[in-house]
Amino acid sequence: MVPKSNFQAKHQDRLITMAKILVLNGPNLNLLGTREPEHYGKTALTDIDQKLVDMAKDAGHELASFQSNAEHELVNRIHQAAADGVAFIIINPAAFTHTSVALRDALAGVAIPFIEIHLSNIHAREDFRHQSYFSDLAVGVISGLGAKGYELALAAAIDTLD
Ligand code: DQA
Repeated sequence: MVPKSNFQAKHQDRLITMAKILVLNGPNLNLLGTREPEHYGKTALTDIDQKLVDMAKDAGHELASFQSNAEHELVNRIHQAAADGVAFIIINPAAFTHTSVALRDALAGVAIPFIEIHLSNIHAREDFRHQSYFSDLAVGVISGLGAKGYELALAAAIDTLD
């Protein structure tokens, strides 16, 4: 007998459609692990990404990650997501949280549901970090739970897709 995959074992009783999930990370998040660990922790972005890919796969979905330090690349990736049929976006806009009307408009333009995530609690930091151009459009916001926040966001996303 062919052994059941994790996915088959978990979901044999219901019909799951594979969805595409996109994780976007903004400027300087490529430095995670070494960058200001007192704010952002010691986990590298590659480790966060790998964990999310595994979680999504286990739930029968497909997850891609993209990090850029350039605003226009993130805007273009959001446009591409619409063309690719991405069903859900998890985004840490990083410093663009507090500045980018362009990224906000891109997300509004494609109308793909998204969760906004921050490793640090932006409300417990400098005043300029309290303002987000994304929160009122987001399905939800997770801030201050470190790398675990990405996993919680993905679990919530998967719940809405299943
Ligand atoms: C951040 C918070 C932002 O204020 C900051 O500019 C970042 C990371 C976070 O994950 O806590 O780069 O989005």
